[in-house]
Amino acid sequence: MGLVGQTAIVTGAGKGFGRAIALRLAKDGAGIVAADIHAAHAEETAALIRTAGGDATPCVVDVASAGSVEAMVQCALAHGPGRVDILVNNAGIWKSTPTEETTEADWDRVLGVNLKGVFLCCRAVIPIMKAQARGRIVNIASIAARNGGTFSGIHYVASKGGVVAITKKLAKELGAFGIVVNGVNPGHSDTGIMAGLDLTAVRDALVKNTPLGRPAEPEDIADVVAFLASDAARFVHGETIEVNGGLVCD
Ligand SMILES: NC(=O)c1ccc[n+]([C@@H]2O[C@H](COP(=O)([O-])OP(=O)(O)OC[C@H]3O[C@@H](n4cnc5c(N)ncnc54)[C@H](O)[C@@H]3O)[C@@H](O)[C@H]2O)c1
Repeated sequence: MGLVGQTAIVTGAGKGFGRAIALRLAKDGAGIVAADIHAAHAEETAALIRTAGGDATPCVVDVASAGSVEAMVQCALAHGPGRVDILVNNAGIWKSTPTEETTEADWDRVLGVNLKGVFLCCRAVIPIMKAQARGRIVNIASIAARNGGTFSGIHYVASKGGVVAITKKLAKELGAFGIVVNGVNPGHSDTGIMAGLDLTAVRDALVKNTPLGRPAEPEDIADVVAFLASDAARFVHGETIEVNGGLVCD
């Protein structure tokens, strides 16, 4: 229960990795702001946390909108003792179009959510974390940032590469203020992010090539985020940890 008294914002907390991360940080004692673009999903996650004896507030946010992100941070300040101790930038969208079929609108939206969203959320919490002289930021990127993706679109790969780069930039800029910044590169997981596409064959090939022989479970990612958010990781800074069952380990 190392996070008792701390407030954590988890974006994209309505499903998938974000829900598992929110549940895990709540188990460790943090008060959770479960933020998602889908109100009902955010409310479901917050209800699951409260049923398990934790503390959570749902919040609707579009991380690609500065005004919406500011409102989310105000919600976090109102939720607990006026602090934001942990920010997990997890919200993301995924697309798989070949480059020549990728529209400008799709490029803008994917970069807007996956990369600008991380910038906007960090920008909004940095003054609070500086005033506290303490904070933890964990950015969820992707194995695609490491290997160029297998079936991810160019916009997705670019966005996640950008997340890894700005994790390093933020670490350099914020370390002196007691703000620790790291990331996670998850491997493939059967969450809903690829819903609507029949990618069974590609997905099966990925699993076959994964030394640990299975896709990631959301809890695999949540456990690593919980480590990075905890005091145990106090001297890990500017790193993005690969969590992919050994699929890319060179
Ligand atoms: N599932 C995978 O295989 C995989 C692999 C590598 C990285 N990732 C990354 O992990 C993160 C979580 O993905 P997931 O697999 O849990 O996906 P998911 O679709 O299950 O969950 C993503 C959540 O983000 C929310 N969201 C989407 N756009 C948003 C916005 N503009 N503002 C706020 N919330 C928004 C969705 O409503 C959803 O609840 C993403 O950043 C994704 O790119 C996923």
